[in-house]
Amino acid sequence: MIAALQGVAGAASPFDPDNAIGYRHWREDKLANYPESLSALTVEISDPRALTAVEREALIAACRRANLVVYACRMRAGDPGIPRVLGRQLGLARLDRNFLAADDGVSRVTVAGETTRGEFIPYTNRPIGWHTDGYYNPPERRIRAMLLHCVRRAAAGGENTLLDHEIAYLRLRDEDPAHVRALMLPDALTIPAREDEDGIARPAQTGPVFLIEPESGALHMRYTARTKSIEWKRDPAVGAAVAALARLLATPSPHHHRVRLAPGMGILCNNVLHDRAGFVDDGEAPRLLYRARYYDRVAET
Ligand SMILES: [Fe+2]
Repeated sequence: MIAALQGVAGAASPFDPDNAIGYRHWREDKLANYPESLSALTVEISDPRALTAVEREALIAACRRANLVVYACRMRAGDPGIPRVLGRQLGLARLDRNFLAADDGVSRVTVAGETTRGEFIPYTNRPIGWHTDGYYNPPERRIRAMLLHCVRRAAAGGENTLLDHEIAYLRLRDEDPAHVRALMLPDALTIPAREDEDGIARPAQTGPVFLIEPESGALHMRYTARTKSIEWKRDPAVGAAVAALARLLATPSPHHHRVRLAPGMGILCNNVLHDRAGFVDDGEAPRLLYRARYYDRVAET
C-alpha cells in the first residue's frame, strides 16, 4: 500500500532495495542480454545527420541493453552541428549549457593551454578518473545522457573506459545489498561549493549516488572518484560501499569497455560511468571532441 502511494515507477522498480523479486528478474535479463564485447556495442552509420531507421534502431537497442553505444560514421564528420542533429534524432533535445560551451550548447573539448578553461582537467591532456557527468549539478540540471563526438584524436592515448552504471549497481548489490542502500542515502555524497570542472561557480550539492528517477523509474548515478573537494557521509556503511565501488571500477571485467575514438566516431550514453586516459597531442592537429550533455535520456530506453 505504501509502495503504491509512492507512485508506479517507484513501486515497480527493481532498483528499490526492498524489491528482491523484481531485482532478481531484472538482473537475469540484464546479464543475459549484456553485450560483453565492444564490437557488439558498435554501430556503423552512414550519415549522422540523417540516420536510417535501421541505424537508429541499432543505436537505441544497444543503449537499451547497456545504456551506451559507440557509433562510427562512414563519412568524415567534423561539423560542429553534428552532435545536436544526431542527438535530436534520438530524443535528446534539452542541452545543458555552460559558459565554456559555444553558443550552441556543445563543448569543444581540447587542450586549452593558458586560458581559463586550462585550469579545468577536461581541457588538459591529463587523465580523468571515473565519474558520471554533471555529478555537481543540482537536481533540475541532472545529466541523463551524454554524447561525445571525435573530430581529431590524440597522437597517443586519450582512451575512454565505460561501465554501465546499472552493472555497477548490480555488482554492488550482489556483493552486499547494504552497499546500494548506503549509496541511495539522500546525503551520501556532498560536493562542496566551489567551481565545477567547467569552471562554473556553484553552491554545495548534497545527494545520493544512486537514485530512482520518479518520472521514468530509471536508475541515475552521481559519482566521482575524486578525493579532493568531495565529502562522503561519515557512516561506516557508506565508507564500505564507496571502497567496494572503487575496487569494482579498478578491476577490469568483461563489462568494462575501453575505446579509443577515431575521427567520426562517438559515444552516446545514458550518462554511464567513464574515465579518460591521459594523452599526447600532435601539435599540428590537437585532439578535439565535441561534447553535448542532455537532461533527456536516449529515446525508448
Ligand atoms: Fe565525463
